[in-house]
Amino acid sequence: MKLSLTPLLLSLFLLLISSLSQLQGLTPKCDDDDNNHHTSTLKVFHIFSPCSPFKPQTPISWEQTILQLQAKDQKRMEYLSSLVATRSVVPIASGRQITQSPTYIVRAKIGTPKQTLLMAMDTSNDVAWVPCSGCLGCSSSTAFAPSKSTTFRGVRCGASQCKQVPNPKCGGSACTFNLTYGSSSVAASLVQDTVTLATDPIPAYTFGCIRKATGSSVPPQGLLGLGRGPLSLLSQTQKLYQSTFSYCLPSFKALNFSGSLRLGPVAQPKRIKFTPLLRNPRRSSLYYVNLVAIRVGRRIVDIPPPALAFNPTTGAGTIFDSGTVFTRLVEPAYIAVRNEFRRRVGRKIAVTTLGGFDTCYTVPIVAPTITFMFSGMNVTLPTDNILIHSTAGGITCLAMAAAPDNVNSVLNVIANMQQQNHRVLFDVPNSRLGVAREPCT
Ligand SMILES: *[C@@H]1O[C@H](CO)[C@@H](O)[C@H](O)[C@H]1NC(C)=O
Ligand SMILES: *[C@@H]1O[C@H](CO)[C@@H](O)[C@H](O)[C@H]1NC(C)=O
Ligand SMILES: *[C@@H]1O[C@H](CO)[C@@H](O)[C@H](O)[C@H]1NC(C)=O
Repeated sequence: MKLSLTPLLLSLFLLLISSLSQLQGLTPKCDDDDNNHHTSTLKVFHIFSPCSPFKPQTPISWEQTILQLQAKDQKRMEYLSSLVATRSVVPIASGRQITQSPTYIVRAKIGTPKQTLLMAMDTSNDVAWVPCSGCLGCSSSTAFAPSKSTTFRGVRCGASQCKQVPNPKCGGSACTFNLTYGSSSVAASLVQDTVTLATDPIPAYTFGCIRKATGSSVPPQGLLGLGRGPLSLLSQTQKLYQSTFSYCLPSFKALNFSGSLRLGPVAQPKRIKFTPLLRNPRRSSLYYVNLVAIRVGRRIVDIPPPALAFNPTTGAGTIFDSGTVFTRLVEPAYIAVRNEFRRRVGRKIAVTTLGGFDTCYTVPIVAPTITFMFSGMNVTLPTDNILIHSTAGGITCLAMAAAPDNVNSVLNVIANMQQQNHRVLFDVPNSRLGVAREPCT
């Protein structure tokens, strides 16, 4: 199913965004107070937050932003599907990774003295990269200036890290590489510098420094991959954070937009439900879990078992992803959920569509809860995580869709709208993922 854009969907999002923009007058604390935490905690901002320089600037460009955002959500699914389907494993970055635009950003400080950069947070990615100053074709507003950092150095060609980037090239002694995808490409060098997250300096952190970008799909911010493959943040901070982190993603609708990214095992919630994390050896960066059933209201819906089964050979299964906005279920699973949802809302109430959403109502409804039943953990979503709602347009939609109907549609993605206002804990050493409700403020 293709998520096409109708004017109605657009206006709904415009509404959402315009109500966000009014909040800009409230001047939330956007200044840097990550340092006030004794725990290793960073603020997480929605890309549309008043604190985000990437928020839409004018009504006209909002429209374009939304168009881009919707298109990128579709691309995100293609990216995730391709990750799963591809046989080769490229640890730091496959070319495809440059086209996605994750929804949440954190602040990192790079170099000595520290330069503050915003980084997109992405759990399905291992790469870290930033645009570097002098970059041709990058957005100029936020770039890292290596020449101003006393701790900056390039990674040498012979270094082991250079073997982990795609198509490394040894021009001089520096390790450089190019990423291409479709009509876009990026030329980068592999570099090291001190990266400070909250108050934790991480010396000689290895990341990509973008020197040249062509095409339109390179996002202006840096990227902080929270996947668990080689060269990822988790791998490079093994001693410090022990491959453990959690986040609370703020809702689009919240009056102030910061959530939190908490790194390391200290200060993680004790009262939280867990489900085992599964490992796909071919796609080690993705966080797979075992979704065994879905309940709508009190009824467990009838889903053919292959639609939910984890299969490390084909890559089929269910992942938690911070970068997809709306949960996608493979078609038989989605149809079963949607049909029961419609039945519970009431057969006499007319169903309408809105872009890619096929279960919308123009009258007030009483929606059933939806429970994702994972091995050992049931997560019941409140309606805020299930419905998108336009007050002016008076339309309410079930905010989920079927995964794209193609050969790769074997992946169920628990997306960020369904995770908002929950703490999601990634505990890699104990191979488990925890979820607890928590208002992110
Ligand atoms: C959000 O609101 C809380 C309390 O109202 C305040 O302490 C906090 O600084 C706010 N955060 C932002 C980013 O505005
Ligand atoms: C990357 O692209 C640049 C031109 O943009 C080219 O000069 C360079 O040789 C390429 N490097 C690799 C590793 O292909
Ligand atoms: C999840 O809910 C089902 C009932 O729908 C129940 O049988 C099962 O024990 C629950 N699982 C957990 C881990 O609480």
